Amino acid sequence: MKVLVVGGGGREHAIVWKISQSPLVDKIYCAPGNGGIQELAECVNIGVMDFERLTEFAQEKGIDLTIVGPDDPLAAGIVDAFEEKGLRVFGPRKDAAIIEGSKVFSKNLMKKYNIPTAAYEVFDKSQEAIAHLKDVSYPIVIKAEGLALGKGVIIAQDYNEAVQAIDNIMEQKVFGAAGNRVVIEEFLTGQEVSVLAFTDGYTVVPMVSAQDHKRAYDNDEGPNTGGMGTFSPSRIYTPEIAAYCMENIFKPTVRTMREEGRMFKGILYFGLIITKDGVKVLEYNARFGDPEAQVVLPRLKTDLVEICNAVIDERLSDIDITWEDNAAVCVIMASGGYPQKYKTGYTIHGIKDAQALEGIIVFHAGTKCVEGETVTAGGRVLGVTAIGSDLDDAIKKAYEGVQKISFTDMHYRKDIGRK
Ligand SMILES: Nc1ncnc2c1ncn2[C@@H]1O[C@H](COP(=O)(O)OP(=O)(O)O)[C@@H](O)[C@H]1O
Ligand SMILES: [Mg+2]
Repeated sequence: MKVLVVGGGGREHAIVWKISQSPLVDKIYCAPGNGGIQELAECVNIGVMDFERLTEFAQEKGIDLTIVGPDDPLAAGIVDAFEEKGLRVFGPRKDAAIIEGSKVFSKNLMKKYNIPTAAYEVFDKSQEAIAHLKDVSYPIVIKAEGLALGKGVIIAQDYNEAVQAIDNIMEQKVFGAAGNRVVIEEFLTGQEVSVLAFTDGYTVVPMVSAQDHKRAYDNDEGPNTGGMGTFSPSRIYTPEIAAYCMENIFKPTVRTMREEGRMFKGILYFGLIITKDGVKVLEYNARFGDPEAQVVLPRLKTDLVEICNAVIDERLSDIDITWEDNAAVCVIMASGGYPQKYKTGYTIHGIKDAQALEGIIVFHAGTKCVEGETVTAGGRVLGVTAIGSDLDDAIKKAYEGVQKISFTDMHYRKDIGRK
């Protein structure tokens, strides 16, 4: 088979790495790819939102399967565009990807079908949102409806901060049209766990659990980022909690999406919070997480291409999906200054030395190859991933890998996996 992977970050490197092990695959293309992906796939310089050229490319090369990584093209209907041209593609259609693309949609879905989530109100006028802020207790959570690069959620400590957030989102439009509507919701406390699942619209198969570290600095300080590291499994996601989630969250979500005429096929990501009143859904994503994919996929024993095919053909219940009984940790090495301003173009040293260690995989996020050298090309640069017998072992190995790598102004957290 010829497979095309759409995207060019650490998540897509993990997907390409996994499918490169499949006996079903002869050739992998990746659009646009990055400096690490190009060792396993032929990178094609087409942007992830250029559906016209992507579908043309897939037709021209006779691609048998396309796997879409990022959220933006899914929300904009890349799967529909491929299907219209008769191409096989893995991911939810636009009408199902809305479960991530609109927080108003997902909150209303959960309310309608009694899926546990934080209490909330929706507003499309800033005056009404601000009037509501007089009646709530603080902190309060304010969410722009649409995709906002992971920056659209503000936890306001008091009334003034909340008013400021509403003004930024709804009047200043700092997230553009994503801020036409807001969700104002109850602040929950507890540990967050990510559970990704394969679903063909009928059957749902959860993957091993993961937790991420969103803040830029150790001890969860500093600004929010796209993710500074992940580990799998979560220490707090017990079999009892998993069984509860299966019956009360995973199955009902997949069933209700189908009943709403928005059958979800692909990866459904459940962002959960474990509160003292039980598990609640913080959000859904319509794709693999980045960097969750980097710790989950290395633990997957089953051929990912076989799973994608089963999802597309709606026969997920026929296959057995199995996992290694181990642990994985991914430490993100970022450019100095990320998530604010940072410079790129620095030479990265030591990737090969890190990779030579047992159990280490270096996934590239923001890198490119210039005259045979790998240089930094983004905020998140590498995801140094280690497989260990347990979390402590994986943490130790991951940092041994990190020690081998250097580039100017690099920054990483020293406490990944210690939650
Ligand atoms: N109701 C809530 N109570 C407490 N924290 C929340 C709540 N909703 C979101 N958060 C925090 O904000 C983060 C981002 O929110 P989320 O809904 O996942 O949006 P996105 O990932 O699209 O930015 C969550 O991971 C969580 O840390
Ligand atoms: Mg989130």
